[in-house]
Amino acid sequence: MIDVSRRTVLLGGTAASVIRGLCPSSARAEDSARPSLPIPSELRANAEGTIVLNARSGSMRFRGDHDTATYGINGPYLGPAVRVRRGEKVVAQVSNGVPENITMHWHGLIIPGAADGGPHRVIPPGKQWQTELSIDQPAATLWFHPHYYPSTAQEVIKGLAGLLIVDDDEIARLPLPSQWGIDDIPLILQDRRFAPDGQFFDRMNIVAVTNGYIGDTALANGARYPEARTARGWLRLRILNGSNARSYALAASDGRSLYVIASDGGLLESPVELKQLLVHVGERFEVLVDGRDGSAFDLVTLPISQGIMRLPPFDRSLPLVTIRPDGVEGKGQLPTNLAVLPPLTDPLPPVSQELVMNMFKDAQGMMLLKRAGLMAMAESGKTDPEVVAHVVNLIVNEPALAQSDQLSANGVNGKPFSLDRIDFAATRNQYLRWRIAEGTDRMLHPVHVHGCQFRIISQDGKPPEPHRAGWKDIAPISAGGVTEILLRFQHTANRDNPYMAHCHILEHEDSGMMAQFTVS
Ligand code: C2O
Ligand code: CU
Ligand code: CU
Repeated sequence: MIDVSRRTVLLGGTAASVIRGLCPSSARAEDSARPSLPIPSELRANAEGTIVLNARSGSMRFRGDHDTATYGINGPYLGPAVRVRRGEKVVAQVSNGVPENITMHWHGLIIPGAADGGPHRVIPPGKQWQTELSIDQPAATLWFHPHYYPSTAQEVIKGLAGLLIVDDDEIARLPLPSQWGIDDIPLILQDRRFAPDGQFFDRMNIVAVTNGYIGDTALANGARYPEARTARGWLRLRILNGSNARSYALAASDGRSLYVIASDGGLLESPVELKQLLVHVGERFEVLVDGRDGSAFDLVTLPISQGIMRLPPFDRSLPLVTIRPDGVEGKGQLPTNLAVLPPLTDPLPPVSQELVMNMFKDAQGMMLLKRAGLMAMAESGKTDPEVVAHVVNLIVNEPALAQSDQLSANGVNGKPFSLDRIDFAATRNQYLRWRIAEGTDRMLHPVHVHGCQFRIISQDGKPPEPHRAGWKDIAPISAGGVTEILLRFQHTANRDNPYMAHCHILEHEDSGMMAQFTVS
């Protein structure tokens, strides 16, 4: 079912034979071709209760011969893993050291609109934003990233994003692997494309506003096909799909099971065993894998159905990271029960809000790809180098849209996003049912709602998959489909700092597929 890459076979042969520690320098000496998986450092509030984040410019060598100009937070690319605890009140202090406006949004955190860091909380270059974050929600793997309209996509491409981990007493009582970087491994998955001069490719053209960003290089924590030396034992992978547009179909190269223990907003009721885990942009899953045998395996991504996302090297099982669980003995276990989640309300409230995602340029984008032969190639299942070259040429060379064309390319409920228009209002402290639908286009949209963690009631009339039945802040809306969610807002969001509801394909968000709402 899963084809094992040659690389994995080679690694598998040597991994079990020697026990080695976790020293990254010895790993480098043994195999200079493979980078070690970078582990973002943990950052807690300092003695004054402040979490200090500095967005800055930097440079990184992703590929042999060129340095790439990047942005990062407290480092050259990506950011630290911020750790907060339920019950804690911290001050987040964000300084903008990059030469453009940013904001900093706490994706998945249940906080008032004024603290949310959406498109209205602009931090100009050289300026600072301080906001109090009062943490009151279950343990979860969240993240933070800029939300500046309309250039979130390009700021995330350059490297502005980081993990935000909420801890609590309940999760501390479970025997889960929790030694950071040893048996508790963060994995930020992204795809990028590089221009010939080594800089990140980034162009808002017709292909991008319709399909989103299409990279040809997979990165894990900013490294290309790195290797993680981990503890021997149960491993916890905290997976964030931090890509702009790409979904990943994750599997272990040797077919070992992935036990999903948590979704976006926290623990599931019990682990869900999967051989393949589809992760859409913005989604997080915590996954336990059994590494007690000490043998190496790759986490791979399998081809997904969307034709343009199957361009090489994503047209086959592509290894993202090698996991070598041959270090110290890990102490974590896979529990049978994880958490008690409240059942969905019975009866469900009536639908109070409908949201329809629109792609106004879908036909135009699709026609180009069809003419290039992409649809026919996707149907045949075989990669045709000529078609690939043609499609890549469109991705790279179609001219950037004029900004007014970009901003009106997509929409919600028939209208492209506008900073000056509040699209709807929601009532606080009340169960709400939203019905989110696809227009008539051909794509899945992972729709995110600020200010809450919600539950999926149904997707296309069916109950959610078990690993999406817990707390979520992203709801996949399948092509032509409908997803219903049950939500409740605990905080307010006023006209000056409204919450956002949007497709998390960042090129869709930046081109109109976003709505804003108040809560009172
Ligand atoms: Cu992760 Cu509105 O964003
Ligand atoms: Cu968010
Ligand atoms: Cu979308």
